[in-house]
Amino acid sequence: MQIPQDLIETATLKLKSIKSEAEFFQLRSQFLGKKSFIINAFSELKDIDKNLRPNIAKKLNVLRADLTKIFEDGFKTLDFNNHQNQLDIFLPEDPYHIGAEHPISKILNKVVVHFTALNYQILSGNEIETDFYNFEALNFPKNHPARQMHDTFYLSSSINTQSDFLLRTHTSNTQIHAMLKETMPLYMLSPGRVYRCDSDNTHLPMFTQIEGLVVDENITFGDLKGVIIDFLDNFFNEKMQIRFRPSYFPFTEPSAEVDIRFGNRGWLEILGCGMVHPNVLKGCNIDVDKYRGFAFGMGIERLAMLYYGVNDIREFYSSNLDFLNQFKS
Ligand code: PHE
Repeated sequence: MQIPQDLIETATLKLKSIKSEAEFFQLRSQFLGKKSFIINAFSELKDIDKNLRPNIAKKLNVLRADLTKIFEDGFKTLDFNNHQNQLDIFLPEDPYHIGAEHPISKILNKVVVHFTALNYQILSGNEIETDFYNFEALNFPKNHPARQMHDTFYLSSSINTQSDFLLRTHTSNTQIHAMLKETMPLYMLSPGRVYRCDSDNTHLPMFTQIEGLVVDENITFGDLKGVIIDFLDNFFNEKMQIRFRPSYFPFTEPSAEVDIRFGNRGWLEILGCGMVHPNVLKGCNIDVDKYRGFAFGMGIERLAMLYYGVNDIREFYSSNLDFLNQFKS
């Protein structure tokens, strides 16, 4: 096999007169492409005398490496004067960021990050729900007055006028879905929107809650207190003055509401919680001799109002850019 001696020289010379990117690639293919001398030579190696083969192969390898380098270096130094067609990967990123993360999303993420670190799984839930998951399975008997406290939006259906569907009034429906689906022990957190027929400067017809549920062996009210106190101290980044006030929810027993003391504003309610009622556990086929649970549900807008010092809950949904831009970070 004859190896041309002037390949490197010719390639270098020709590279100098290249005028466009297309020409460059054409030339490169001439020297290193499928039909080039070097590639043909490699495929002919097998027909060469065994004794001569290693020496020729070595020479070919060196030649190919040299050619490759010439073209690599050539590409870097050539200026094709057609920048508009090239993508400059070194351009800095667009410095203009449009919009700001919504304060409710920020607070939601803050809560999720805290509980994810404690190994709670994050579950999503349905906003359109059946009476069963929103009330029945949570131990609200039919016609129980506690259902009225919720100012429920019922959905009518053209097919079935006695529709069973409603807009969920709380995220507690996710407790039932989780207990029926997941295996125990269970540590879950479920954020989402809820709806109540209610509207003033501290109430909205649509707002956001986060539900927490733990079901495990040996769970006590002490565990619930520990989790809540630890969360609130962490969230506000200081030791908070907190009180557990006895309350009533059909699906927890005992039940409590948690208040935080905010200087001259006094005690402010922040969440509802309690030990999961045995009726609820039993309804989800959970062995009540083995497992116990606690649950809590908090309003995110309320948390955001306290965290950011916002006095009117409606501000969050007014789409007022002067208000929203304050949360840009
Ligand atoms: N779902 C209740 C509410 O919306 C809050 C709650 C959740 C209470 C979990 C106890 C346990 O008011």
